[in-house]
Amino acid sequence: MHFASDNAAGIAPAILAAIGQANEGFALGYGEDAITKRLERRFAEIFEHEVAAFLVPTGTAANALALAHIAPPWGAVLCHEECHLAVDECGAPEFFGGGLKLIPLQGEACKISVAAFEAALKRLPTGGPHHVTPAALSLTQATEAGTLYRPDEISRLAALAHADKMLVHVDGARFANALVRQKLSPAAATWKLGVDVLSFGATKGGALAAEAVLFFDPMRRAGMAERRKRGGHLLSKHRFIAAQIEAYLADDLWLTLARHANTMADRLAERLAAVGYPPVWPVEANEVFAKFPRALDRRLKQAGASYHPWQTNGLPAGVMIAPDEVLVRLVASFATRAEDAEEFVEAIRGA
Ligand SMILES: Cc1ncc(COP(=O)(O)O)c(C=O)c1O
Repeated sequence: MHFASDNAAGIAPAILAAIGQANEGFALGYGEDAITKRLERRFAEIFEHEVAAFLVPTGTAANALALAHIAPPWGAVLCHEECHLAVDECGAPEFFGGGLKLIPLQGEACKISVAAFEAALKRLPTGGPHHVTPAALSLTQATEAGTLYRPDEISRLAALAHADKMLVHVDGARFANALVRQKLSPAAATWKLGVDVLSFGATKGGALAAEAVLFFDPMRRAGMAERRKRGGHLLSKHRFIAAQIEAYLADDLWLTLARHANTMADRLAERLAAVGYPPVWPVEANEVFAKFPRALDRRLKQAGASYHPWQTNGLPAGVMIAPDEVLVRLVASFATRAEDAEEFVEAIRGA
């Protein structure tokens, strides 16, 4: 009953094996190894576009370094008020960005609506020495609520951002989960919609610690190698981070693992709904959010279930959390087994 997070799962066996294979012999450090050198080409093939790729070990580093690279210290990054970079990165985007300002926007299900973004652009001052100027829009796909931006939503948001000379960043810690659900190609989900830079996640999908910052305009590579090194995120034994991503991408493993995680989340949501706890948001990736009575929550925890409570301002209209209830987040991963949902629901029945 391990639904705390997708990082509670281990490493996908093929990725672990690739780390072992990369361990044979010697290779130059700092990205001068053969695996790293072929990876950028691989990303370009997968995304059907030239890219500049920079590997880092954490999603926080990917987001913070990417945003620092596209927004000046006097710039603002508009993002959802509950997104990871605003809430869970201990100020890393502001730190790496030399004090750049995050401007949090509200929205149901962790999504920024086109109307909310438009209103923010109208409201926020730009230019001059007195204000931060909006420099980037950051979206999370899949969102922290396990929901998805539709392609037309992203392209409309991106068009508005570009019209205001802003760039578009996507936090793709769960990009693969979104992609397989929407049955889109990587290109159709990113640069074709106007995404300029993607934090491409692999850790939650099954790697040990591997993320990539992908710039769809390779000219943006200028200065990024220095920024990553200066920020302490250029791995010396870089071949091992590259080996993880190479294995993750090989034979569509990343998509297979994400499809499995999504299917497990669907199954869990279905079983929970059947016993009276339907998901509060549509299950569009690998996360399920449900309201549990506090007494049930206590008993499940006593029975060994692992999951986290969740705070949000973005519940759908009409959905309320009563004082004796708790909103919980249940995350499925590549390692979730089909029987896990049954065991969990059995524990609910027992409780
Ligand atoms: C949406 C999202 N972005 C980024 C991250 C950052 O990942 P890390 O913990 O590797 O820094 C997470 C991790 O929970 C996440 O959920």
